[in-house]
Order: sequence, then C-alpha cells, then structure tokens
Amino acid sequence: MILEPTDDQKAFQLRVSMFAAQRIGPAAARIDEHAVFPRALVTEAAALGLMGVTIPTAFGGAGRDYVSYALAIEALARASAVIAVIAAVNNSLVAEPLAEFGTEAQKQAWLRRLATGESLGAFALSEEHAGSDAANQQTVARLDDRGYLLNGRKVWVANAEAADVAIVFAATPPASRGRGIGAFLVPMDASGLSRAMTADSLGVRGLGCMDLELTDVRVDADALLGGPADGFKVAMWALDGGRVAIAAQALGVGAAALDEAIAYAKQHEQFGQPIANYQAIQWMLADSATELDAARMLMLKAADARGRRARPTLEAAMAKLSASEAAHRAADRAMQILASRGYRRGSVVERLFRDVRATEIYQGTSEVQRMVIAEHILG
Ligand code: CAA
Repeated sequence: MILEPTDDQKAFQLRVSMFAAQRIGPAAARIDEHAVFPRALVTEAAALGLMGVTIPTAFGGAGRDYVSYALAIEALARASAVIAVIAAVNNSLVAEPLAEFGTEAQKQAWLRRLATGESLGAFALSEEHAGSDAANQQTVARLDDRGYLLNGRKVWVANAEAADVAIVFAATPPASRGRGIGAFLVPMDASGLSRAMTADSLGVRGLGCMDLELTDVRVDADALLGGPADGFKVAMWALDGGRVAIAAQALGVGAAALDEAIAYAKQHEQFGQPIANYQAIQWMLADSATELDAARMLMLKAADARGRRARPTLEAAMAKLSASEAAHRAADRAMQILASRGYRRGSVVERLFRDVRATEIYQGTSEVQRMVIAEHILG
C-alpha cells in the first residue's frame, strides 16, 4: 500500500497552500475577531475549484480524487479553520450527495452553481434533540397532493448565513426513525423558512452557523434526494466524506500549531539558550509531530477508501477521531510552549487552540466516532 500522495496530488496541495498563505492567512485573525462570513474569499477559493473538488468537470467541479480534496482542506485549514470547514460542508455535505443521489434535473438546478461557488450549500440535519441521535428527527415533511409541507427547527446549520440552498432532513410519516427520513433540497429563500443567528461560539467564528425555522415550507415532491425513506442513508453517506474532511481540517490546524511552537522554541531564550534546546520542549514537539503524522496516514487511508467504495465508514471515523484528538493535543502543547505569548487574546496559537476544539464535536463527536468504530469491530 502506498501512503504517499502522488506528484499530481502534491502539486494540487501546493497550489492550494500558496493561495491559502497569500490570500487567506492574512485575513484569518480578522475573520475570527469579527466572526464575519468570508464570502469574498470563498469566491476566490471557488475559482481554484475548491467548492467542488471531486465534482465532475461537466458540472463545473475540479473533477479530482478524494485524496486531493482532503489535502486541499488540510492546506486551507493551516491558514484558516473557518474557510476549511465552509469548503468541507459545501463539498462533502451538499455537492457530493447531490452528485451521488440527485436526479439530472436537481443536478442541473444546483450542482454547477454549488461546484463553481456561484451558490453555497448548507446541511440541515441537527436539531435540539437530534445531535448525536441524528435519526430522532422532529422536523416533519407531510405529503399532500401538491408535494411536501415542512415544519420544524434545525440548529447549528453551518454556512446558513450565506447559503442559497440547504439539504433539509425531515421525518416522512408514517415510518419512523432512520427508515422514515427524507432529504429535501430547499432553497434558502423558500417562503416560510427563516434564519436566526446561532449563539456565538468559542472557535471557527465566521462559519455562518444559524438555526433554521421551517413553518409550512412547501416543496415539490421532486425536491427529494432519493426516496422519501432514503434521507438517513444520504446523511450518513455524506458524513462519511465529511468526516474525512474534518480529519484533514484538524490536521491543518494541528500542523499550524506545531509550526508556531517550533518557530517560537527556536527563537525564545530562557536560562541563556533557546528553549528548543531543552528536552522538556523537544519531547512535546516530537509527540505532536508523531501523533499528527500517524493521524495523517489514517486520514489518507480514509480518503483513498472514499475514492474506492461507497462506505468508508470505519476508516472515516478512525481518521476523524485520531486527527481531531492529535490536533487538540498539538494545540495544547503549542499553548504550553508559548505560555503567556500563546495565552494572550489575539495570538495565533490562542485562535488555533479555540478552533481545533470544534473538530472533536461537529460531524459526529468523538464519542459517536468511537460508537461507530466499536460497532464495526464487535460486528
Ligand atoms: N452510509 C449509508 N448508510 C448508513 C451508514 C453509512 N455510513 N451508516 C448507517 N447507515 C444506514 C444503516 O445501514 C441503517 O440502514 P437499515 O435500517 O436499512 O439497516 C440505517 O442507516 C440506520 O443506521 P444505524 O442503526 O446505525 O443508525 P443509528 O440511529 O444507530 O445512528 C449514528 C448511528 C452513527 C450514531 C448516527 O446517528 C450518527 O452518525 N450521529 C451523528 C450525527 C452527526 O454527525 N451530525 C453532524 C451534523 S452536521 C454538523 O456537524 C455541522 C457541521 O459540519 C459544521
């Protein structure tokens, strides 16, 4: 097995890294401070194919493989965790399931626009009592002779502030739980759909997270992605890819924290010499480098598996669990090494420390990943 990206994949990542360093890095602190959705930078990223990396070129995407996509998300996250997760949601949670499950008409209506960045997508699965228990949908879609009427409330919908379309999950009675959920393509300007700002968050500020209130939102029956009972599978299929992307995002943030720690340890002197000369510091740096590299191998394995088969569920869960926890530890060690310089509000390490925490929570908490892994190994 080859766990080394190809020259072409590396060249793509280098192009994204250069863009991220030149255009995104300088804006990252401002995005975080003001929690502003970085629409203009998302448009620039889209021009490089980053809003539809694996979407076929016929639909305006970059037509690249999943490893290239994951490497691109990692490169974006090194500069800004926010832009990385905006891209991850648009790619993995909206454009990819649309490409996989959508009808030709649905693809013509939305896929090109999503892949080119002309439109932005959101994924409305979570509810107050349907976070980890995603099948417990209280939003209901009732079928009548004119299509479906959607009623309910969605929470923590990333990208919602700027999105033009959302995949909204809703129970389709009379079936229940996982077997009675539909996935609906809903334009964000649909009558009866309103957005409310989600509470401010510790990190990934600027993600455009909002709650959605749906009151008698009418959609045609052909707004369904797949059949009326296929929605849970659509969600889980999308999250398999999303979890690979969040693993990549975590690795980007963790690598940025390690870079900060190394640079500081080499130049900051205590007791007459750079602190990098002390074993206490060296061991922290060595642990972070080793853990991030190990997690990167799991991430590459999961990305490769995603490109080969429909359900890389186990690999994706392992990659997300391992990368998010390794990156958390790397950010924590960087904070310890920079000490008061890292702890002060507005330092790069302080932002990374806050941003990385979300990777253990969204697109399935670490506990959900462990549940998924345990289910696979126990059979
Ligand atoms: N692909 C396709 N189908 C799948 C699947 C997958 N990966 N995983 C499960 N399914 C199918 C199963 O085969 C099963 O189908 P059958 O009934 O036909 O057998 C059905 O789905 C139900 O599966 P489970 O019994 O395993 O479902 P469950 O209710 O026990 O839930 C869970 C399992 C893993 C806990 C799931 O609920 C889960 O992943 N929860 C976390 C949700 C999550 O990640 N939410 C993130 C929201 S988005 C976000 O965070 C915002 C952001 O990005 C910023």
